Amino acid sequence: METTVLTGAPTITPPRRLHVITWGCQMNVYDSGRMADVLAPLGYAPTADAGDADMVILNTCHIRDRAAEKVFSELGKLRLLKQARAEAGGRMILAVAGCVAQAEGAEILARAPFVDIVLGPQTYHRLPEMVARASRAAGAVIDTEFPADDKFDHLPDEAAPQGLTAFLTIQEGCDKFCSFCVVPYTRGAEQSRAEAAVLAEARRLVAQGAREITLLGQNVNGWHGTGADGAPSTLGRLVRRLAEIPELWRIRYTTSHPRDMDDDLIAAHAEVPRLMPFLHLPVQSGSDPVLAAMNRRHSVADFRRIIERLRAARPDLAVSSDFIVGHPGETRADFAATLALVREVGFAQAFSFKYSARPGTPAAASPGQVDEAEKDARLQELQALLRDQQAAFNRSCVGLTVPVLFTGLGRHPGQVAGRSPWLHAVHISGPASLIGTETRVKIEAAFPNSLSASLPEQERACA
Ligand code: SAH
Ligand code: SF4
Ligand code: F3S
Repeated sequence: METTVLTGAPTITPPRRLHVITWGCQMNVYDSGRMADVLAPLGYAPTADAGDADMVILNTCHIRDRAAEKVFSELGKLRLLKQARAEAGGRMILAVAGCVAQAEGAEILARAPFVDIVLGPQTYHRLPEMVARASRAAGAVIDTEFPADDKFDHLPDEAAPQGLTAFLTIQEGCDKFCSFCVVPYTRGAEQSRAEAAVLAEARRLVAQGAREITLLGQNVNGWHGTGADGAPSTLGRLVRRLAEIPELWRIRYTTSHPRDMDDDLIAAHAEVPRLMPFLHLPVQSGSDPVLAAMNRRHSVADFRRIIERLRAARPDLAVSSDFIVGHPGETRADFAATLALVREVGFAQAFSFKYSARPGTPAAASPGQVDEAEKDARLQELQALLRDQQAAFNRSCVGLTVPVLFTGLGRHPGQVAGRSPWLHAVHISGPASLIGTETRVKIEAAFPNSLSASLPEQERACA
């Protein structure tokens, strides 16, 4: 039976409901929003209930091992919902998107033949066509190409506001080929969007209410989109242009690579107050032999120098990072060097992972794989140190008066919550009218992952 998919003309069918489940990095969060934008003209509106959905998209991540298993376990649950819907005379289109889909498209269909659509991160602008084909045809639709045309040229404007804080992808893909990483294979080659397209999207986001924008890219500081003069630009220049948008109060970017941290970007940290004093700069290891084996193409000394220069440019800069323990060949001494670097630099926050062998990556086939129990022990030791540093950083904020961008209600009645310049979640007892403002508050207490604050006397009197 054929279903009509385009809903421009008056229709007697109820609006379609779309449920998207997102795993992985912030770019996947952004992509999920953009998939909803692409499907909005077909009548799809978001629903929080998968059982109620005409279409469910799983937007997946392939970065570490258990990620794919999570996908298959979720698909098992969705299969039952899909069956129940079919028995009630309805239809659920089930799509798997993102990096697992890109890497394992055929295997997904072999293991879960009830999936209707498999699509990669670079083809979601073609979703309407895929939905039409899936609705007509028996059998699944698979589209995991790296098309020559750029998806960004085909995406509609944003259908729904992202809110006070928004993501904006400016760069995608990776040519760096770190030994352990699947991203160059799942996201494809590095591509930068043109400056004009980025500025236009930023202005639309701000017009829809965004006051903080996080620029996204797998190597965001390697952005080299075409500038106003037709020549490749740099992230430092882009940040300065974005800072001219009057109501864009806060700018962030993630994730950076140490290799691409150029002088101009470091200078932007000194010159652009709207560029927030928090930087996520993954180092992965504190040992030069391991960095070489990882094909990171920077040394420990390079990283140290970059941090020193950034801190000289912006003394209140807090640094966050990513670490991998147990990369093939990592010895106890290498790991001790990582601990030493962490102690020396001092991180406000960090993510740390056990090395996970990814099929098709060079490290998966290299000798010197580290024993699982040893990886566990190293991870625990590193995480204990990083937790202590995070707690110390949070404690150091107590007593300060800092601007917080209030974004919504807190968990408890009478509370509102927001973000500090250093990405802390901050909550406060105060009026809901604070939401949407950037207000200076006094930090009263620090918790492992958040801060509590109070309004200074003056604001309290006005509230
Ligand atoms: N583009 C970013 C990071 C992308 S992935 C960068 O270059 O830093 C996010 C983090 O996942 C990485 O920084 C790394 O710490 C971790 N990661 C990636 N592949 C991994 C693997 N095979 N095993 C364990 N951790 C991994
Ligand atoms: Fe992966 Fe390395 Fe590229 Fe980051 S720079 S996405 S870790 S290959
Ligand atoms: Fe995961 Fe793909 Fe992002 S593998 S981390 S969703 S780029």
